[in-house]
Amino acid sequence: PSSSRPTRRLAADAAGIAEAAALLRAGGLVALPTETVYGLAADATSGAAVAGIYAAKERPSFNPLIAHLPDLASARRQGLFDAHALALAQAFWPGPLTLVVPAAPGCTVSDLARAGLATVALRVPAHPVAHAVLAAAGRPIAAPSANRSGRISATSAEDALADLGGRIDAVLDAGSTEVGVESTIVACLDGAPRLLRPGGVPREAIEHAIGRPLAIAGDAGHAPISPGLLASHYAPAARVRLDAEAPRDGEAWLGFGPDRQDHPQALNLSPSGDLREAAAHLFGYLRRLDASGPATIAVARIPEQGLGEAINDRLRRAAAPR
Ligand code: TXA
Ligand code: MG
Repeated sequence: PSSSRPTRRLAADAAGIAEAAALLRAGGLVALPTETVYGLAADATSGAAVAGIYAAKERPSFNPLIAHLPDLASARRQGLFDAHALALAQAFWPGPLTLVVPAAPGCTVSDLARAGLATVALRVPAHPVAHAVLAAAGRPIAAPSANRSGRISATSAEDALADLGGRIDAVLDAGSTEVGVESTIVACLDGAPRLLRPGGVPREAIEHAIGRPLAIAGDAGHAPISPGLLASHYAPAARVRLDAEAPRDGEAWLGFGPDRQDHPQALNLSPSGDLREAAAHLFGYLRRLDASGPATIAVARIPEQGLGEAINDRLRRAAAPR
């Protein structure tokens, strides 16, 4: 990818939003805030614009992208919603939920963004700045997380710039994101909704909305259907050691809940043990600890409930062998 492209920082005001939408309509690449993480946005209907995303991120093009829409009505022009998909969209949109559904006959999301699949991933984000850009762009916008492929997702304009500065046209800066982990992805393809990726909407809330337990992709009888769910991902330069009681010599420490670490390289995801706060801090704190150059980051045990399922999923990928 060209690394000489000057990247402009746009304020998240009316002028910045209008400029971001104009850049997207012209085929440009813009990092923009959503409530989960920053997204690297491009016109999903343009194969050339989408190719720019894969190049800037160095992302394998067999890994499809989420198309972002301003509302359910525009999402229904792109995909076919069964009763479960409709119930989930009505319960959680706008918000941190992505639905994988069969592509509608008139779907305008490019083959490249869909990696040639007959399905399409759709999301209506809740962030007011994202919503304003999507409404002004007037077409589906593809947006993977605004990090280089395999690295820790960006939750601030600074983190997006650190990975993608010089490779994209602009960053729309609206400060840190609120949720901090990516959207929950649910496939509604064959009657039984399946969880493809835990995320910002906890599993329990989804199961409550559909009135049944979610099947997990890759369960017996199901082939994995989310090509992007690679084991190693979100990888800091340091090794990651999970479920640690305390840091060993030379390790950085990522704590959770009350702990008395008067340790030179320590951050606490949530001293009060609040999983929402922990999710919001996760990627930024991993980046900060990694920047201090430890060989290993030891991480406290996080409960596997609510947002803890998404946090642990990201931590397991960060710790996976590379
Ligand atoms: O919160 C989020 O979802 C963020 C913000 C920017 O919206 N986006 C995000 O995108 O996390 P990305 O590209 O990092 O993750 C999208 C995931 C990938 O694992 C990809 O494989 C999966 O969605 N995906 C996309 N289209 C799919 C499809 N048709 N079938 C199955 N999985 C799909
Ligand atoms: Mg990502």
